[in-house]
Amino acid sequence: MSQQAVNGVPCRGKVLTLDNMNPNVRRVEYAVRGVIVQRALQIEKELKEGVKKPFTEVIKANIGDAHAMGQKPITFLRQVLALCSYPDLLEDNKFPEDAKQRARRILQACGGHSIGAYSASQGIECIRQDVARYIEKRDGGISSNPDNIYLSTGASDAIVTMLKLLVCGEGRDRTGVMISIPQYPLYSAALADLAAVQISYYLDEDKCWSLDVAELKRAINAARQHCNPRVLCIINPGNPTGQVQSRQCIEDVIRFAKEEHLFLMADEVYQDNVYAEGCKFHSFKKVLFEMGAEYSSTVEMASFHSTSKCYMGECGFRGGYMEVINMDPEVKAQLTKLVSVRLCPPVPGQALLDLVVNPPQPDEPSYNTFMKERTAVLAALSEKAGLTEKIFNTVPGIICNPVQGAMYTFPRITLPQKAIDKAKEEGLVPDMFYCMRLLEEEGICLVPGSGFGQREGTFHFRMTILPPTEKLKIVLQKIRDYHMRFTQEFS
Ligand SMILES: Cc1ncc(COP(=O)(O)O)c(C=O)c1O
Repeated sequence: MSQQAVNGVPCRGKVLTLDNMNPNVRRVEYAVRGVIVQRALQIEKELKEGVKKPFTEVIKANIGDAHAMGQKPITFLRQVLALCSYPDLLEDNKFPEDAKQRARRILQACGGHSIGAYSASQGIECIRQDVARYIEKRDGGISSNPDNIYLSTGASDAIVTMLKLLVCGEGRDRTGVMISIPQYPLYSAALADLAAVQISYYLDEDKCWSLDVAELKRAINAARQHCNPRVLCIINPGNPTGQVQSRQCIEDVIRFAKEEHLFLMADEVYQDNVYAEGCKFHSFKKVLFEMGAEYSSTVEMASFHSTSKCYMGECGFRGGYMEVINMDPEVKAQLTKLVSVRLCPPVPGQALLDLVVNPPQPDEPSYNTFMKERTAVLAALSEKAGLTEKIFNTVPGIICNPVQGAMYTFPRITLPQKAIDKAKEEGLVPDMFYCMRLLEEEGICLVPGSGFGQREGTFHFRMTILPPTEKLKIVLQKIRDYHMRFTQEFS
């Protein structure tokens, strides 16, 4: 601690320094907004200041932020939110009657009839009821109890909250949490923050990033030497790998969770984003209940959904929910207490979620426009998923699995040894070196595969399929040319 005097006043230095701050926070990494994105922002600034570059704009294909990539909001969702935000508009005849009805119903449920009021910590009750009805309909009538629904600040908040509840113990007793590799870095970041033990299980790239129970067994057996595995996290459809799990695979996973006495966390934020023929979204809840009482009354689970993905892409509203199943009632009381500390999720996000789970019905005036817009977004994503796979697979040195669902592709890239050596020389991991050069030369911002985890000695990048189709074609062409140039330069 420094004791130097400044103007005669003894200075003891900062109370909070890198050396004495929470070491768990220092260990947190979040590649999706990491150094490469910071450099992309800097380049954007330089372009604005007139610095000459080989490109005129930075295309940020690093994050699943649909509206930032130009996707238009769904009219009905924004109409109701506009009405909720400024209720004087309820007198305006430009708004359809069904939008007004929804807004009135939501406002009726808000404190002081304003979305500016705090709500109940678990979320507005009538919205939780709508969520439960949505789940029942989605899952072919399997019942859902609104008491088991917790509205959240996006899915991220609910995922972190669940992990907080689950992590305990010291030394070899510390909770181990199984996450896929590659993974969405929220998970590794949250585990670092909570000082939980990360148990990595690898998805099988050669089988379209599928999940194999034998690999789960390998990972859990190895982890038992140093921690207490208690949680299994699954992302379906997958981020960053874009795979959609088969029903059989989900059944196998549930059986494994029961046998190994694990709490299941099913991240299903991409449940409407399924594109590949023969693939279908199966919720873990539905499969669990179809497996019979032996499973449905015992396996503990939380599943997550969000307003940020699917056809909505309303990331900024921070809407989401989780449903908990078979949770011990005393723990559930603790969960309710824990969420009450943060008062409540954003009420506009809750209102938006309500519209997602309770969209316009065929006999309502907004139905046709709503369906047209929804279908157009999903059809465009489906087209872009196919296009991405097709174009990448024409490039020697890039292998791309089908983008069956979600919003990303995670192609494997072959990097020449000289490039790997050069990266080392510059103190960068090889796929970061590759992505940084792509950013500097072409203005395209991707995330290196190392930010998500990958098998030793393999290299990837993650790219979203969100840019508008014509722009995406240019991006793919530019990556293709860059990859060939890069390979030639280092061969
Ligand atoms: C798999 C997955 N889970 C959770 C989230 C978090 O979403 P949000 O907090 O915006 O709902 C994301 C965001 O990209 C994601 O890809």
